Amino acid sequence: MSNLYLIINKRDYGKLCVTQNISLIFFSNLNRLNFGARCMEETFYQILAKASLDKIDKRKLEKMFKRLSQEIDLLKTIFNKISLENKRILDIGTGQGFACKFLVENARNSLIVTIDRDPLCLNRVRNILGDKINNLVFIKADLSALLFIKNNFFDIALAHYTISTIEKDKLIRVLEEVHRILVPNGWLVIIEGFGIGKKDHPRELTLELEEIYREITKEEKELELENLLLILNKFSKFKLIEVKKLNDGLLDPTIEDFAYYLLKLTNDTELRNRIKEIIKKGRRIGFREAPDYVIYLQK
Ligand SMILES: C[S@@+](CC[C@H](N)C(=O)[O-])C[C@H]1O[C@@H](n2cnc3c(N)ncnc32)[C@H](O)[C@@H]1O
Repeated sequence: MSNLYLIINKRDYGKLCVTQNISLIFFSNLNRLNFGARCMEETFYQILAKASLDKIDKRKLEKMFKRLSQEIDLLKTIFNKISLENKRILDIGTGQGFACKFLVENARNSLIVTIDRDPLCLNRVRNILGDKINNLVFIKADLSALLFIKNNFFDIALAHYTISTIEKDKLIRVLEEVHRILVPNGWLVIIEGFGIGKKDHPRELTLELEEIYREITKEEKELELENLLLILNKFSKFKLIEVKKLNDGLLDPTIEDFAYYLLKLTNDTELRNRIKEIIKKGRRIGFREAPDYVIYLQK
């Protein structure tokens, strides 16, 4: 740990966070975890950012905790051939701390460091981890500038649904930094959701919500697997070991919340009715997200 020379005191920084009125929600990967959830006026991302959670908050987070347990199962499969013991592990993009929870509970005798530029992620990950937060180092920083970490330091870097949220013009710089701080033969493990997958009714509902989201926000389409592989190929410093499809897209209990978030974004009656109809159907049959993929790379 002494090799990292900028480490934020977790507890004190947490206090600082709650004095700030920041409520960032990231929507770059709509299929994914950290899109906002309704929970009345608050999104689940906002609730998690509180300094502490009361009973009502915890009840509002029930669906998110279901989602979390699916993610943990997936991460167990992803790391079944890579040892997490006695390692230095970097979690790229703390987000709501799902990957952190997996690492803290499964990487024995390891140094686990998580980095995010959003300071409220510290509260989020603390609410996910509880007392186990003491087994984690949180650093507030931009992933494209990790000068405070020396070369060849980490054995494993995990990007759990983070790559698709990094600005396009920063991605190569982030890859450069991750490559620099990994030991030779160190692993970069990228997890993302891509493509259509199983186009059943639950998936169609999610795709329709995504289309509405793009219609409202005019946001570009998400990063596709082919594009990411092209970028990684062009970057060329990592050896591409394996690209593996993990599933056809899981049913995600938090996508209903995304639909409620969309309702808040528009006053257009026709759109609102469409969204309400989707919510009604989704309540019955569920919402399916994009297929999950893992990409294993080595320095
Ligand atoms: C989808 S979330 C990651 C989910 C998280 N890994 C988990 O398991 O819960 C993406 C996170 O990446 C962070 N992020 C995106 N670009 C970043 C950058 N350039 N520097 C630091 N953090 C960044 C965002 O702030 C966001 O919290």
